[in-house]
Amino acid sequence: MSLVIHGIGELVTADPAAGDGPLGVLRDAAVVFDGGRVAWVGASGAAPAADEAVDARGRCLLPGFVDSHAHLVFAGDRADEFAARMTGRPYAAGGIRTTVEATRAASDDALRANLRRLVAEMARQGTTTVECKSGYGLTVEQERRCVRIAAEVTGEVTFLGAHVVPPEYDGDPGGYVRLVSGAMMAACAPYARWIDVFCERGAFDAAQARTVLAAGAAAGLVPRVHANQLGPGPGVRLAVEMGAASADHCTFLADADVDALASSPTVATLLPAVEFSTRQPYPDARRLLDAGAAVALATDCNPGSGYSSSMAFCVALAVREMGMSPAEAVLAATAGGARALRRGDVGRLSPGARADAQLLDAPSHIHLAYRPGVPLTAAVWKDGVRQV
Ligand code: NIG
Ligand code: FE
Repeated sequence: MSLVIHGIGELVTADPAAGDGPLGVLRDAAVVFDGGRVAWVGASGAAPAADEAVDARGRCLLPGFVDSHAHLVFAGDRADEFAARMTGRPYAAGGIRTTVEATRAASDDALRANLRRLVAEMARQGTTTVECKSGYGLTVEQERRCVRIAAEVTGEVTFLGAHVVPPEYDGDPGGYVRLVSGAMMAACAPYARWIDVFCERGAFDAAQARTVLAAGAAAGLVPRVHANQLGPGPGVRLAVEMGAASADHCTFLADADVDALASSPTVATLLPAVEFSTRQPYPDARRLLDAGAAVALATDCNPGSGYSSSMAFCVALAVREMGMSPAEAVLAATAGGARALRRGDVGRLSPGARADAQLLDAPSHIHLAYRPGVPLTAAVWKDGVRQV
């Protein structure tokens, strides 16, 4: 079945070669989906016929969001921890263990149902590609179960056995790093595309993180790193050194970190819903963009540090708090996320891309930041099939 969407007031292709400006905008435009791909874009009046037609009535069509960082395989929540934080308790990585306990006790079906609920919640808000990490199991069998269940909903599965040291290995972090790099890696790598590590005080130091990333690379996984979230540290430079696709968080950066990102293909993935929820300072997107680093925005949706599934919320925060223009933020939430996942087929709406798109109940992409908290997503297609 082919589909033509015509009467698009603002078509954001997110491909600068396909239209005007960095967002590659076309006005009074149409797009044709065929075989799950974008077959044609151009002037609405010149659109070829298709099996089905949708009139966008002057509204904005843009690529589905690419959420390149999320932790969706877990049980329970930590609403009480959030409430305590809002009255002054600081966020600490140790809270992860609360979710590990709940996750271990949950059935496969309970984990699966929660995961599918969150993926559906994301789709309703315009997200069509989502990365999903393990990291709340922390035994060989539990981590294998988490990546196996994640692989049921996305090809972008990340093995994050090195999230924190579980209680069984208190006092023996080296032993846990050996487990993650050995038996756990062997069990999980077949389900995953990416290897991640939480390189932070209270989690894993640079040497431990390097060991895990190198073992992942040897198992055919590509590195990405939780870096410089809670304070300055070695995570960003380790990510660049290891050729990581992305260094995520990037909240506390030294000049050398910014320089390292700017002179490498490693994407700086910013997760402002976390700073919202942890009351930490927002990362400085302007500094990264001005230095020439590639920037992505993602939710980091997880029950601890930030439980928002909304990419539009992240776009609004990036514009209001992080020095990004609306165009830069929308680009970072689409093409930027695609780059962080090394995907050329998503995050853009030009010929050959996947037919993953969202129609806004608004005339332009600016409204995503201009009308925060408003559910603007009117329709969503994934692989050319209407989802919402
Ligand atoms: O990306 N930083 C490490 N992991 C998550 C938090 C997980 C949690 O608190 O449960 C994050 O912020
Ligand atoms: Fe995370």
